[in-house]
This record gives sequence, structure tokens and C-alpha cells, in this order.
Amino acid sequence: MMLENISPCAQKYWRERKSVVGAFWDIDFLLFDRILTGQFESGVQGDLLEIGALYGKSAILLGCHARPEEKVIVCDVFDNVEGDDENVAENTQSYRGLNRGRFEDNYKRWVDRPPVVIAELSQHIVNRVEPRSLRFAHVDGSHLYNVVRMDIANTRSILNDSGVVVMDDFRALHTPGVAAAVWDAVSNEGLIPICISEQKFYGSWNSEIARVTSLNLMQWVATQGDAINYGMQDVAGASVLLIQSPAPWKKYKLVMDLPTPWGTVKIVIVIPAPWRKHPAAPRLRDVFNQAWVRPYLGSRQAKAQSGIDHPMPDSAC
Ligand SMILES: C[S@@+](CC[C@H](N)C(=O)[O-])C[C@H]1O[C@@H](n2cnc3c(N)ncnc32)[C@H](O)[C@@H]1O
Repeated sequence: MMLENISPCAQKYWRERKSVVGAFWDIDFLLFDRILTGQFESGVQGDLLEIGALYGKSAILLGCHARPEEKVIVCDVFDNVEGDDENVAENTQSYRGLNRGRFEDNYKRWVDRPPVVIAELSQHIVNRVEPRSLRFAHVDGSHLYNVVRMDIANTRSILNDSGVVVMDDFRALHTPGVAAAVWDAVSNEGLIPICISEQKFYGSWNSEIARVTSLNLMQWVATQGDAINYGMQDVAGASVLLIQSPAPWKKYKLVMDLPTPWGTVKIVIVIPAPWRKHPAAPRLRDVFNQAWVRPYLGSRQAKAQSGIDHPMPDSAC
């Protein structure tokens, strides 16, 4: 993925992103970057929230985008593991070694202004954040159904009219609670999908914001050639844009510098990758942050939420 795709405020972090531990795929880096830039360009203002910061991998990108008058707010229990028994077990097992200092040390490497840290359970967020004050919320805390349901309802009340919400892990084996809570909000609580990636669901409670954001993203992916696979499907009455990460390599190139008494010799080994056809290959995407297969994802014809067709530029077809 090319650096030209990244907005100037995030380019330094993009180049160095791999030095931060966390689960934040490149495709989501790009989508966050585009949505936050689009909000800036259309004059949308508000604070930026992340529930579940871990070591800061995604929160740092919010920090890169916050304007001087905007706050980045992060909510995480860090090592003060509390909550109900299941949430305690989830956090103890999943995030051993986490503490607030490690998050803050990472964050300040790329962002000068410290975030507002709410180091407690996300259920308290509505008492700490002004109603309707956010333009962007990334919900990436607990994966348990009851907590996620509450996070969605709380986020709705603190997002402003133009706000966008991103839900992490809405479709993994270990996160059925996120899936159920997200699609329940779509079916029954007016949450409108903008797009989905391998890991994240993007939505808004404002149908016009959802429609325009989805259309802008579709126009962008349509210019990316083979690098991004995408399509549109109708789900529960809404048109959802599906965006898949860059296609995998067909060959893997290993380059090594070998010091010898006569100088450095460059050794290049090209390894074909037939193993990507192996039935287990799709699982490797979680290890390598790459999609392995390119399924048909749906029509490439954008539809407004009202059902009116919007033909895409020629390059998309
Ligand atoms: C999946 S990680 C977040 C990943 C992170 N966004 C990144 O980019 O790497 C989930 C985080 O949520 C926090 N967490 C879990 N349950 C929580 C709760 N009920 N309230 C607040 N934070 C919670 C954990 O401590 C952990 O740091």
C-alpha cells in the first residue's frame, strides 16, 4: 500500500506503525485515515474516542488526526482489571502485561498532546464524556455481549449528529457477542452500516452521513485497482460496502545482506507460495495481516440507502 494513500498528518506513524504491538490491520488504518480526513474536509468537528486502547496502535492514529480544539479520549481498564467475572477473565487471559504507562509511552512517540485517559470500565463513559460531543468513536474494548450492547448504546448518546462509530471484531469465532450486538443495533436500533472490513464494522446513526461516507469510500477503493477487493451487498435493508485487505503475494522475496571478507554480498531468494492454496491458508491472514483469497464480495454499483442507484466511475467497472 502506497504512502500517497495516507494523509500527511499520519504518514510518519504509518511508516513506523509496525513498532507498536496490537491488532490494527493496514486496511483499517487506511479507512480510519480516509474517514477522519473526510470529516475534516467537510467541516465536521468533535472529539475522538477509543474504548479499548491496549498499547495504543489505533489510538495513535486518532491522535494524529485530532485538531487543536479536539480531544482524544481513551477508555481502558489497563492493568486495573475489574468488572464482572467474565470481563475479568477475558482481560486477565488476553492482555497480560498491559499497563497505562506502556500505552502512554507509545502514544507520545507520535502525538505531542496527551489524550484524556479514562482508566476505568467503559460503562462509566457516559458520566465522563459530554453528550453529542464526538465525531468519531472506535469501540474495541470487551467482546462480551452485554458490555458491547452497553458500549453501543452509550456511544450513540455521546456521538454528535455527524458521528461515525467503528466496532472491532464483529465477526470472529471468539467474539459472537460483538456480532450479535452490532447486527442487533443495525436491525433494531437504527445503526446504518457504512462498510465492513475483515475486522471492523463502520456505521452511523445518521443516514446521510452513512450514505456519503460509504460512497466516498467506494469511489476511493474503485481507484485502487487490484490492491483492494470490494463489493456491495444488501443486509437487513441497508447497502453495505465490503472491503477486503490487499491481496497476498504470489511470491515471497527474501533479501539478505551477507558480510564476507570481500564486502557485503546481497542474496535474493524468491519463494513461490503454492501453500496459499492450502485449506488452512485463510487462517494465516490473522498472522500475516493479509487476505489470502479474493471472494466475490457483491455488486460494484453503489446504492443510496434510499435504493437509488449511483453508477460508479468507469474505472470501477
Ligand atoms: C482488543 S484490545 C484493544 C486493541 C487496540 N485498540 C489496538 O489497536 O491494539 C481491548 C482492550 O480493551 C480493554 N477492555 C476490556 N474490557 C474493558 C471494559 N469493560 N472497559 C474498558 N476497557 C476494557 C482491555 O484492557 C484491552 O486493552
